[in-house]
Amino acid sequence: MSSESTISKRAAIADPGTKRQRMSVPRFTARKGGAPLVCLTSYTAHVAAICDEVCDLLLVGDSLGMVIHGMENTLGVTLEHMIMHGQAVVRGADKALVVVDMPFGSFEESPEIAFRNAARVVKETGCHAVKLEGGVEMAPTIRHLTRRGIPVMAHVGLMPQAMNTAGGFKAVRDEGQFEAVVADARAVEDAGAFSVVVEGVAPALADRRHGALSIPTIGIGASADCDGQILVFEDMVGLMPRVPTFVKRYGTMEEMMRAAVGQYAEEVTARTFPAEEHTYRRK
Ligand code: KIV
Repeated sequence: MSSESTISKRAAIADPGTKRQRMSVPRFTARKGGAPLVCLTSYTAHVAAICDEVCDLLLVGDSLGMVIHGMENTLGVTLEHMIMHGQAVVRGADKALVVVDMPFGSFEESPEIAFRNAARVVKETGCHAVKLEGGVEMAPTIRHLTRRGIPVMAHVGLMPQAMNTAGGFKAVRDEGQFEAVVADARAVEDAGAFSVVVEGVAPALADRRHGALSIPTIGIGASADCDGQILVFEDMVGLMPRVPTFVKRYGTMEEMMRAAVGQYAEEVTARTFPAEEHTYRRK
């Protein structure tokens, strides 16, 4: 287990004099079986700065297509979207490991094309690693990237980019699907992935996989026994209207924002805003 625990980070927040080192890929992997890894998505600099205070890893997920850009799924997300949001998050975070998702169509064709696009993401954002969806079929690509200096976080189980072949966002619940998911997890580990996101897998299955791997498993809709957890920031602060089973809302941001814009509209209409203290004095 690594000496850097969540507790020491919390101490650093309470006492800003305590130094917290930037998380690195080797230290992240070394946390396998240690203090749980705290991960969240971030797409903007300000949110990244908030999450950076407590997170080991910030993921610039391609979920930004749905959350920020109002798309129905993640398939329309481009490399340019990922680079622009990746740059913002890297500017906002100076402690967490920043990982940027490879969007659909940017890595599947060949390991060489994946490298070209992943290298562009790393160069143009300054992120520390990329994430890509896929198991056995993506192992050669993961090996190609990691051997050439690009750390890869893998993503198995429910893979949102495969929604058309899967017939929607389908959780893995059947024993029958389990062997394929285990084979995926083993393949990405063998190929050199430094960690693997396990999405939408029933705990009984997720736990069997988790125990069998030597890299950290990061669960979303999986099991509390994974080495860490990740959620979409906007889901957990209560900013998204849809609340999937695996999301716990830790805040009520949508209500707070509605109340704020409602009050603003009332005050503008009543000409009570701006008040004197919000206006400049004449010289
Ligand atoms: O795109 C994303 O936000 C993700 C996480 C949900 C793991 O892949």
